[in-house]
Amino acid sequence: MKLWGGRFKREQGKDFRAFESSISFDFRLAKHDIEVNRAWAKMLEKIEIFTGDELKKILAALDYTEKDLEKGRLKADVALYEDIHSLIEDRLFTYAGSAAKKLPAGRSRNELVSADMRLYLREHIDYILGQLKGFQRSLLSAATRYSGAVMPAFTHMQQAVPVTLGHLILSYFWKINRDKKFFKYALEETNVMPLGGGAAGGTTIPVDTDFLMTELGFSRIFENSIDGTSSRDFVLLFLEAAVSLQLHFSGICEDMILFSTSYFSYLHLPDEYSTGSSLMPQKKNPDFFELVRGKTGRVAGSLAALINLLKGLPSGYNRDLQEDKISLFDTVDEIEAILTLFPSVFSALEFDTEAMLKSVEQGTVCAQALAEFLVTKGVPFRKAHEIIGKIVSDNELASRKMSDIKLSDLKVYSEFFSAEVIPLLEPGGVLKQLATSSSPSPLMFEQQLRLAYEAAEE
Ligand code: ARG
Repeated sequence: MKLWGGRFKREQGKDFRAFESSISFDFRLAKHDIEVNRAWAKMLEKIEIFTGDELKKILAALDYTEKDLEKGRLKADVALYEDIHSLIEDRLFTYAGSAAKKLPAGRSRNELVSADMRLYLREHIDYILGQLKGFQRSLLSAATRYSGAVMPAFTHMQQAVPVTLGHLILSYFWKINRDKKFFKYALEETNVMPLGGGAAGGTTIPVDTDFLMTELGFSRIFENSIDGTSSRDFVLLFLEAAVSLQLHFSGICEDMILFSTSYFSYLHLPDEYSTGSSLMPQKKNPDFFELVRGKTGRVAGSLAALINLLKGLPSGYNRDLQEDKISLFDTVDEIEAILTLFPSVFSALEFDTEAMLKSVEQGTVCAQALAEFLVTKGVPFRKAHEIIGKIVSDNELASRKMSDIKLSDLKVYSEFFSAEVIPLLEPGGVLKQLATSSSPSPLMFEQQLRLAYEAAEE
């Protein structure tokens, strides 16, 4: 069934029909289209456009159509339907006859597609937020498990200062927590009702928008019909949140890939989530992490596609907007697939805490703390920096571990060194003396963990 045609003298070209049809991808909005139609039908009866009898017929037809959908009896045929809205309207006509012809009174597909997409996305953001919480929980239990595992933090990929693996994992947690906030904001802007906007300039039918809002669970109504029928800001916000999440995922994955190399040997890859090589028998590869890192490009590409789609569009609905769904659906699918696996993958990771400790002991990660020790004895920081730099340089030449250095060796460089400095020659000793609330001090870990648990449950 065609939803228009009165002003056309010749048939639409078949080849063009297939080209302009969106049913191959907007079919997934079917259940939401049915939901919006149900609310719309009830509203039409309320404002006396439908009789009670007609409403009954339409509601029954909607139930049948929903059954058809569940049983796989609806087919996304590009030759027959321009989009999912045409398909549903066609079905309703089959089941309810002339009553179905009254249903679209005062309503355009421009507002309908936006309403459908908002219901779809609302459901998926809810799901994603739940999954993110699950991922945060698995991060928190790993952070607890490895709260005492000393390792280096890196800057420029060079060993910098001692931290704990628990601290590093908590850094992942907070990134994900910010993403949750982005998704929540996207949800807030998604849950706004465009119905009542007509095609662009409202309708003379006294559509009861308050009723529709309540019925469909929207939290507010668009203030402006042009904006409401054509804005895709909610999709943009969702994709921006998704890109931020993917960038964070990608960073975590990059760490895991590096840590699993033989050069680090910090991490044993779990068999369940790794792959082998068809030629090299010894290989165990971090493909999960590589794929997630790779999909970041794909999701960022979807955001770029949407930005370019929206750029320069004139006010009001334009058919270009039909293409928004491809970026949106692909991103939803990818993010959800990743989130289904990531918590289990992270829980299955086994870190080699001894290899981590060994790598810091061989390094000079205590240098900053040694310079700060001299500061507490009255040496100006730049001077202290110079002195420790010299010690590092001399001892690197002699290839000695920082902890092999004796107090008497240190005294050669500065008279301000005393026995109190000895604990600072060990990474664990440095950690204990860290003073700020965000630092990897073992004394602050409990408090940091508690804050994170609270944020996860918010
Ligand atoms: N299929 C279209 C979309 O996805 C909705 C229909 C609006 N069509 C129109 N000719 N105004 O955006």
